[in-house]
Amino acid sequence: MEKQLTDKVQFRNGGELNYRIVQAPMQTWSGLDRGRVSQATKDYYARRANSATMVITEYCYVSESGGPARTTSTTDQQLGMFDDAHKEGFAEIAESLQKEGNLAVMQIAHAGREANYRGRQGETVYDPSAIDFSFLDYPVTELSNDDIEQIIQDFADAAKRAIDLGYDGVEIHGANHYLQQQFFSKFSNKRTDKWGGSLENRMRFAVEDTRAVTDTIKEHAPEGFIVGYRISPEEIHGSNEGYLIDESTQLVKTLVETFALDYIYVSMAKYNDTPAKDDKTYAEYMCEVMDDETKLIVVGNVMSEADAQDALNYADLVAVGRATLMDPEFGGKIQADREDEIIQEISPEQIEESKLPDGIVNVFSTPAMQPILPGRESIYHLHKGGLNESTIKDGTTSSYNIVEE
Ligand SMILES: Cc1cc2nc3c(=O)[nH]c(=O)nc-3n(C[C@H](O)[C@H](O)[C@H](O)COP(=O)(O)O)c2cc1C
Repeated sequence: MEKQLTDKVQFRNGGELNYRIVQAPMQTWSGLDRGRVSQATKDYYARRANSATMVITEYCYVSESGGPARTTSTTDQQLGMFDDAHKEGFAEIAESLQKEGNLAVMQIAHAGREANYRGRQGETVYDPSAIDFSFLDYPVTELSNDDIEQIIQDFADAAKRAIDLGYDGVEIHGANHYLQQQFFSKFSNKRTDKWGGSLENRMRFAVEDTRAVTDTIKEHAPEGFIVGYRISPEEIHGSNEGYLIDESTQLVKTLVETFALDYIYVSMAKYNDTPAKDDKTYAEYMCEVMDDETKLIVVGNVMSEADAQDALNYADLVAVGRATLMDPEFGGKIQADREDEIIQEISPEQIEESKLPDGIVNVFSTPAMQPILPGRESIYHLHKGGLNESTIKDGTTSSYNIVEE
């Protein structure tokens, strides 16, 4: 039978979703003082109790060296989860997301070389290998074996904090050029020890990290706690290939078979994207190597109920990003058969209605931002500047890209 958006879904470890739409993690640029939640962060998430049946919160960095990333000027607004002081405010976020019976999942990450705020402050920025990347305006330092072991422990500690804070799950951010991907990529990992070289060695960081997180969950989490892994299916930098689909499917196969993950989440610009080499979708490639129990999430340019329904031809669950910024009840309206009421454009009024933090308004009101919010011309006058430093240059499977004004 054809999948419907309003179907209930059960994850293999017991977590239950009321329907098939989840909110994609999106940085809100609302943090304070190296990773602390602000009132604007809380207001934004409080407005998202009906945004989707599971909201994956924006990426929180797990080690002091793991962020802030993608800062838009000299600010440090990415959220962190690298010590207990960061817990303040996060429980409130989970509770408000759970208020209508939906779930809160925390995305945990280490930015590696993308910790650009550190770079601009003259602090050490780490990467698997000390390469002089032409697209960075700061140097990177190679991680030692001890550093790597510590970061793996930091992922486990962040997962423990998410459990203590009442979250329903955690998602390991293995996509979008952050540390897991930097290790997996031949382009950025030139190591000759057990963390680099062969496919097995380049997978090791992702595998050991997932092991540490799943062991923590087994030991401390309640029944049904969700664990997912986000991956970019390919990494291509012009003529340089970090990895292609044949390798990312091997990583997914290993993770799913070894750790009984609840879901794999494929990061794409469009939910039915394909590799350059043929017209089989990334989602189809992933399905071929996954068991029947782990769910597949696709993301990318789902702006309407019709898009979301079409995306179900490729996956079990559909993640929606920007559309939930414009309408914080995107998923709830579809579930209640009120899809004709979905607001599909941004406007100054909708910024208020949707409780968008100033930082995210600043990003989407710059003409250089990709991808865009429809109706963005109406908010250009709200732009406060601060985006004159390039924050990231991405490959083909990037998710967002703010370039120089
Ligand atoms: C402003 C913005 C912030 C984002 N922050 C994150 C993030 O914190 N973690 C992540 O995995 N992806 C992040 N993404 C990628 C989104 O999760 C999603 O993949 C992307 O927006 C495409 O989905 P959409 O077309 O529905 O917006 C971000 C995207 C945008 C536009």
